[in-house]
Amino acid sequence: MAQRDGFTSTFGVLVATLGSAVGLGNIWKFPYLTGTNGGAGFLLTYLLATLLVGLPVMIAEIMLGRTARANAVSTFEILSPKQPFWKAIGYMGLVAAVLILAFYTEVAGWVFAYVVKSIAGTLGHTDPASAKATFGALVSSPVQALFWQWLVLVVTGGIIMLGVSKGIEAVAKKLMPLLFLLLIALCIRSLTLPGAAEGLRFLFAPDFSKIGTGVLLTALGLAFFKLSIGMGTMLTYGSYFRPEQNIPATATRVMIADLSVSLLAGMAIFPAVFAFGFEPAAGPSLVFMTIPAVFDSMPGGQVFMVLFFVLTAIASLGAMLSILEVPVAMMTERWSCSRRKATLITLAVIALLGAPASLSQSLTQDWKLFGLNAFDLFDYLSSNVLLPLGGILISLFVGWSYGMGKLQAGLSNNGQLDNGPLVKALFILLRYVSPLLIAIVMLKALGLF
Ligand code: PFF
Repeated sequence: MAQRDGFTSTFGVLVATLGSAVGLGNIWKFPYLTGTNGGAGFLLTYLLATLLVGLPVMIAEIMLGRTARANAVSTFEILSPKQPFWKAIGYMGLVAAVLILAFYTEVAGWVFAYVVKSIAGTLGHTDPASAKATFGALVSSPVQALFWQWLVLVVTGGIIMLGVSKGIEAVAKKLMPLLFLLLIALCIRSLTLPGAAEGLRFLFAPDFSKIGTGVLLTALGLAFFKLSIGMGTMLTYGSYFRPEQNIPATATRVMIADLSVSLLAGMAIFPAVFAFGFEPAAGPSLVFMTIPAVFDSMPGGQVFMVLFFVLTAIASLGAMLSILEVPVAMMTERWSCSRRKATLITLAVIALLGAPASLSQSLTQDWKLFGLNAFDLFDYLSSNVLLPLGGILISLFVGWSYGMGKLQAGLSNNGQLDNGPLVKALFILLRYVSPLLIAIVMLKALGLF
């Protein structure tokens, strides 16, 4: 077999993994879900889900991938040859990857469009009505929606074809630190706006009456979506990890950095929402309306606005690359397809499936299943069904089939790391806590008890 590509340095592994986690989830999804689900109570639930379920599943996935050094389907064949059904986890991940990309590329398309609009200087408004009109004009135009989505697909595909180290790793290394700095600058501006305190209260003072079962599932789904787990992405990235990489430490760092980016985005957005009279529960359009307003109210705002949307576009690329890598790794390794061919086939499927999602505010707005349009349906099915289900199965696999001894060995880097008590706690979380918690939240949301 040809030498497998992989990440080339410890820092490279960290930023590429972080590049997968950080994306539109932090800057677009986290703020709008926090806004529509009542603020701080949701934030707290999401934090708990991340710690109790997200981090353990993330560590498990990376460990499995690194041990087998294979894609998400083959990993289970290699690690569990006598129980072939576990590889269903990999195939579910494939479906989730395609569904997520079908709507994610649309939102990334909006970001790309906002890059151009910010350069052209057509976003300079702080009043909610015109901000809404600008966003509405973009998403309700079929030509524009499709154009931007396809552009995103072409750019993502191009980078993936360059490979793991020269494509994914190289892009992530250069740009993640810059995004962080810019978000800090934005926060400072937003927090010094008159009336900012109300936004902070919304984000940090919990109101527990708002936490219903729907909210719990949404928070859990967000935890999975944020850490890119439950669908084989971290497993695939784990297969590119270096043997000496400390997996629990890397996963914990990624989780903390990822949470910080979300909180920074929240602190940039919510003070501005209240200062300028926007609606916190505006939904998916929230970021696209409030962020231009914050920039418009600061000196040199236009330059920073361009930079912000460029960096958000890049953050979304890091995440999309990691999702696309799941089917591409599977196809190249299992069907000996070339990387180029695998990428093109996957992109074609996503373009077909993604079209009804990107037209869901125009031509296909009446296409509904379970009362959801294509965009919302793909989002719901992936985040609230497939990823949590994948999380249950991965936890069950490690907790009941793979076992404590192999988990310990997989994380010990050939006996160099002795993280005994930590692994024990992790094992208990995987064996009992996370499958039970996820199952209860999912069943409750279905109204089964
Ligand atoms: N974590 C990414 C984000 O928050 O934008 C989205 C994502 C990437 C989800 C990779 C799932 C995945 F496998």
